[in-house]
Amino acid sequence: MLEKREHWGSSIGFIFAAAGSAIGLGNIWKFPYIAGQNGGGAFVLIYLACIVVVGMPIMLCEMTLGRATQKNPVGAFKALSPNTSHLANLIGVSIIFSGLAMLCFKQFGWSAVLCAVGLLVMFYGWITVGILCIVTPFAILSYYCVVGGWTIGYIYKSFAQEINVGSVAEAGGIFGAFIGNTGLMIGLFLIFLLFSSLIVWGGVRNGIERWSKILMPLLFILLLVIMLRGLSLPGARRGVAFFLKPDFTKLSAEAILIALGHAFFTLSLGMGAMITYSSYISREQNIFLSSLAVVFLDTLVAIFAGLAIFSTVFAMGFNPDAGPSLVFKVLPAVFSSIPLGWLWAGLFFLLLSVAALTSSVSLLEVAVSYFIDERKWSRHKAVLICTLGIVVTGLLSAVSITDWHRIEWLHDWLVKAFNVQSGNFFETIDNLSSNWFLPLGGLGISLFVGWIWGTRKAVKEIRYGSSNFADVHLIALLAGLKDDPSHNDERYHVLTLASLWGIFIRFVAPVAITIAFLWMNIK
Ligand code: TRP
Repeated sequence: MLEKREHWGSSIGFIFAAAGSAIGLGNIWKFPYIAGQNGGGAFVLIYLACIVVVGMPIMLCEMTLGRATQKNPVGAFKALSPNTSHLANLIGVSIIFSGLAMLCFKQFGWSAVLCAVGLLVMFYGWITVGILCIVTPFAILSYYCVVGGWTIGYIYKSFAQEINVGSVAEAGGIFGAFIGNTGLMIGLFLIFLLFSSLIVWGGVRNGIERWSKILMPLLFILLLVIMLRGLSLPGARRGVAFFLKPDFTKLSAEAILIALGHAFFTLSLGMGAMITYSSYISREQNIFLSSLAVVFLDTLVAIFAGLAIFSTVFAMGFNPDAGPSLVFKVLPAVFSSIPLGWLWAGLFFLLLSVAALTSSVSLLEVAVSYFIDERKWSRHKAVLICTLGIVVTGLLSAVSITDWHRIEWLHDWLVKAFNVQSGNFFETIDNLSSNWFLPLGGLGISLFVGWIWGTRKAVKEIRYGSSNFADVHLIALLAGLKDDPSHNDERYHVLTLASLWGIFIRFVAPVAITIAFLWMNIK
């Protein structure tokens, strides 16, 4: 008995949903603060390079995998991977040995993780990458929903004029008291998670697509309003210069890694969110154009959000390098000093929660689709159980997101097992997922499509619905000779978008990610 898979109602519905996934806290909350911490313009440039070199090719990889298999990430790898080979055994065994070697350094936690991964690789081969894709959303959602809860709290605080403050220090005090209120944190976290679950509960077309089509236009309007307000303030120009003028002396090696990790995070890559969403499209969809549209919209929103925030922050004479609390401490102080500040602040935090909501929906849908496809659960059962899982991990975050002191035992255990010292709960999970799980997942996905499934089959899949794109002769196009008869000869079609893409996913993206990993460890 073959159940028919749900599909998006229209192409534009898919693009809205995928852009809704990509555009989130990453664009409006995280991107401005990491740009602020890493020196502004130069960082933005590196980030854009990562989007083009690594993000765009892998976006197309994920969309191709999803549409070709019509499955969740685990199902997709299962459908396309060859039987586990000697190579998988060899790699699995070497991972296990390196895990055992870690024992000599008393790295018990890492040793256990490596042995487990080694076993997975031995028995499941490439499907291990799919499994990683199902684990990561639980890690990300655990803190994503907590921050989502903050944004809801701040919508209320803005309209109630509770964050009408005179200084950043005062706003900091309010924020500190806010996140110190554990009961409130848990409540807001649960409300935010409940909204996300309800949308996923409604299904692909009646839940995710319908809400994306309402919330995304709302988000664009809010963002435009706030950006224009910021840019029209006297003195906004210094903010714009900080954000757009590259000063490479301020760029550190670490910033490059952060930019790469953020490219994955902001485009929702590396954990199969795009595989899952494009498993609900049909072959008429032009995935080449769709992937470009999603990347473009996501980048546009990040740039607009940066302009909105830095123009306002500089116009009011504040510092851009406050870190994760930039939006929650500096902005309230900034807004309080412009007329009708509470209104702008309220709209801003509304914008932030809308963006966060469509993203957390996509994170949840990845796990849900796995249980529906592979375990044959009903959608409602899958949503219920995944939500309960996130409640458990999210509660840990909610009570300890900025500091470990409420779950000291877990911290002690982590320090003992993994030898990690630095950072609070929030930084630890964020760093682990953005800078490790996502790039690792992305590496697996691009290697798999480039070398195992093969670019030939992948390009064949891409051609459905986008043949005129994949095979455009780039040089002819740039030279204005696109329809010149001599260039229509098959033999001349060498440098096409499709072949360029093949080179990127086989060589450029994997090498870039590997270098980033090595760098991170040598440092
Ligand atoms: N891209 C979202 C943001 O910028 C977050 C997100 C949603 C995500 N789904 C994802 C990140 C999947 C990684 C993987 O906030």
